[in-house]
Amino acid sequence: MVDPTPDAWRRVDRYLTETLVGHDPTLEAAVDDQNAAGLPSIEVAPVNGKFLHLLTRIARARRILEIGTLGGYSTIWLARALPERGSVVSIEAEPVNAALARANITRAGLADRVEVREGRAADVLPTLSGGEPFDLVFIDADKESNTIYLDWAARLGRPGTVVVVDNIGRGGEVANPATTASNVIGTQRGLEMLARDPRFDATALQTLDAKGWDGIALAIVVEPGPARDAGGVERGHH
Ligand code: DHB
Ligand code: MG
Repeated sequence: MVDPTPDAWRRVDRYLTETLVGHDPTLEAAVDDQNAAGLPSIEVAPVNGKFLHLLTRIARARRILEIGTLGGYSTIWLARALPERGSVVSIEAEPVNAALARANITRAGLADRVEVREGRAADVLPTLSGGEPFDLVFIDADKESNTIYLDWAARLGRPGTVVVVDNIGRGGEVANPATTASNVIGTQRGLEMLARDPRFDATALQTLDAKGWDGIALAIVVEPGPARDAGGVERGHH
């Protein structure tokens, strides 16, 4: 995709990042190593990472679930917001990414509170059932599976669990009902699910930052558990 970010957005993002986020050698080293390893530069922007960090503190989250670790950049922002004995479970499908993320998380001094689980999220998520509920879920993996991930966020959450979905703007393409891009269609399905599934209440914000024109959805779990139809019969989660 052509980078749609005009100079003005970048200038404002640089200003906000310099003013409010500043420099952090550990986070910058994580991004440098991710880039050196040839991973895509699709980690969240610094202002967005700090947003996730603050949201974690506002929610007083103790247990965090992240779907899509990449190199661990957002993972570090999230884990640093946790109180003593807080924990992050972060799921990553690519073994190379998972290894790099573990190294970045260890260098950040957070290995004791972050577990990177390697595997397809659709396979790993069912294994997390039965534990304490997650207080915050950050969904940032393959967009085609967003409805599956949202379903698991509700199942593994509790009333009040905060759910954030990354990349809901996609350079404006999300508003194109005729889009043929599978990732955009997955994003649209996820947003439609947030609107109609009684387990969630949600909104979304467009973002203009170092990563271009995109956005995040923010939801709260109002009624946890598996999806139920009007007759109370559990629906499959594919
Ligand atoms: C892509 C994925 C992301 O999670 C992101 O933040 C930006 C881009 C992608 O797959 O293109
Ligand atoms: Mg993303």
